[in-house]
Amino acid sequence: MRKTTATPADLARRVRAIPPQPGPREAADTVEAIGTGAVVDATGTTVATDPVTGTDPVTETDTVIAGAGPVGRSEERATVRLREGGPDEPPRYAPEWLELREGADAAARSLDLLDPLRVRLANLPGRAGSVIHDLGCGTGSMGRWLAPRLDGAQHWILHDRDPYLLHFAAVASPRSAADGSRVTVETRRGDVARLTPDALVGASLVTASALLDVLTREEVDTLAAACAGAGCPALLTLSVAGRVELSPADPLDAEITAAFNAHQRRDGLLGPDAVTAACEAFAEHGATVKLHPSAWRLGPDERALTAQWLRGWVGAAVEERPELAERAEAYLADRLAACAAGELDVVVHHSDLLALARPTGGAAS
Ligand SMILES: C[S@@+](CC[C@H](N)C(=O)[O-])C[C@H]1O[C@@H](n2cnc3c(N)ncnc32)[C@H](O)[C@@H]1O
Repeated sequence: MRKTTATPADLARRVRAIPPQPGPREAADTVEAIGTGAVVDATGTTVATDPVTGTDPVTETDTVIAGAGPVGRSEERATVRLREGGPDEPPRYAPEWLELREGADAAARSLDLLDPLRVRLANLPGRAGSVIHDLGCGTGSMGRWLAPRLDGAQHWILHDRDPYLLHFAAVASPRSAADGSRVTVETRRGDVARLTPDALVGASLVTASALLDVLTREEVDTLAAACAGAGCPALLTLSVAGRVELSPADPLDAEITAAFNAHQRRDGLLGPDAVTAACEAFAEHGATVKLHPSAWRLGPDERALTAQWLRGWVGAAVEERPELAERAEAYLADRLAACAAGELDVVVHHSDLLALARPTGGAAS
């Protein structure tokens, strides 16, 4: 296993140049994948050398990658391990995948939940600025989206258990708020499923993006309790809803969807039940909860993301129901061909949730 000696700045530069899709080859070694700098087209075929590294083209073909790609447990496969680990090692998420989805995530997150959030933040007592905890920050896309949409000085505390992703997040963090105020960041490595109210002392806001569905009910309860204990609001975006729409439709869509959703619920993870569980958990702690849809709407302009999402979605379904393999392989080939031709539209439904806990410091809600 090669080790990387790259600095965070190197990594941040590379994340712009790495292949837009973590394909089959990358499943073995992220560092290798980053080093190749190959350019991969929407069908997963390497089509060009990287202008910087000048590496030779390598022909790759599509395969059904079990679990590779988009969400929940399935990302364990798309997530490329940086070093060998035991079976108990938690999943690690490929920065390529997070980079690939960042634009669609940004377009999908609900702007409607920001007004009530701004009102709450404006009413916080005695604060010179906001302290915002981003849980499961990955490479920091939530901060890049939200910080420039909020006024006032902000200090972001970025939490993740993966130090590699925390490096990306710190280096590529936003520097200024909507009104030009300063934005600063710090990183904290740890398990966000064990967050205590103490860890959130002084917090103005807790955020997360694409996190809730990879937690268990108990972990979501712990999170809600921590937010309630600290009296701070939580903006928890992009939890999968378990519904997808593909156009044109195919008779196998429903079966793949059901198998994928079952895969997401493996090992007690919430998957598509995350939002309901979170609503219940926050409500039990007296919070007011607001929901808003935040679907990805993927058309011909998002072919690379759609193709990678398709591979992961179908791969996870087959992993859950191996008897689907033969039909799913033909289905995936057809879907990828339609995607490459710009003839496939996909809506992947998500939900955003804003929980307004009762303030503990006497702030108006
Ligand atoms: C799907 S990624 C989303 C990353 C980022 N929020 C985004 O929207 O691009 C989930 C992230 O949560 C982190 N994560 C998952 N479970 C975690 C846990 N229990 N403690 C800390 N980090 C966790 C993963 O390492 C990963 O970075």
